[in-house]
Amino acid sequence: MNLILMGLPGAGKGTQAEKIVDKYHIPHISTGDMFRAAIADETELGLKAKSFMDAGELVPDEITNGIVKERLAQPDTKVGFLLDGFPRTLAQAEALDQILNELGKKLDAVIDIEVAENVLVERLSGRFICKTCGATYHKLFNPPKVAGTCDRCGGHEFYQREDDKPETVRTRLKVNIKNSEPILAYYKSQGLLHEIDGDRKIDDVFKEVDQIIAK
Ligand code: AP5
Ligand code: MG
Repeated sequence: MNLILMGLPGAGKGTQAEKIVDKYHIPHISTGDMFRAAIADETELGLKAKSFMDAGELVPDEITNGIVKERLAQPDTKVGFLLDGFPRTLAQAEALDQILNELGKKLDAVIDIEVAENVLVERLSGRFICKTCGATYHKLFNPPKVAGTCDRCGGHEFYQREDDKPETVRTRLKVNIKNSEPILAYYKSQGLLHEIDGDRKIDDVFKEVDQIIAK
């Protein structure tokens, strides 16, 4: 099962991805997570990506397409994959078609999680993440069951993302709103697009995601 999760910053891509991966055991390929890991490891890729990410801008297509191509060629994608946050430009969508073609793979569905802009700002400002396992929480909407302890791994250390500062969030939203329309039209014309209301409880959103995958 080869899937794409789309949605503006804060729509819940990472949150739904955790649930999809728990149930379907396909690799979660998040370009944002890959760039953050590269920055933490101080690799050449991280060095290249950092200034764009800190500004809330997109990392150039040739860099992003390259890491996705490499990742999709790994053997664990034989059972399928879940792309989160890629493609983010029409050029990336076209590059992905070429990559998949070369690998003899095909997309099964593109799920776009739709949430209004004012809700997104609220979500990003309250987000925090487990340092140990990367599980995502929100101080009001999705706190851990036991305060200060990660539900997933029992970790006690959390962090907030650098690019969740209000001024960077505004740039991220602007950049992503501008770029997403043509991609949605692209996948709609191929009959792959499923648009779902993401402004509901996390488990209710997942029920619909799960129904789409089950089909
Ligand atoms: P990336 O890491 O992908 O960030 P993003 O797209 O801005 O999306 P987020 O991860 O912020 O949001 P999300 O949709 O995953 O929401 P989450 O589940 O965490 O990319 C970061 C940067 O990397 C980009 O700006 C760019 O620089 C670069 N980059 C990445 N991919 C690229 C590409 N393809 N091309 C070029 N550059 C690229 O949820 C958010 C919060 O809301 C959490 O607190 C969560 O608990 C809460 N929440 C989730 N669902 C709900 C719900 N239903 N109700 C209430 N609260 C909810
Ligand atoms: Mg995310």
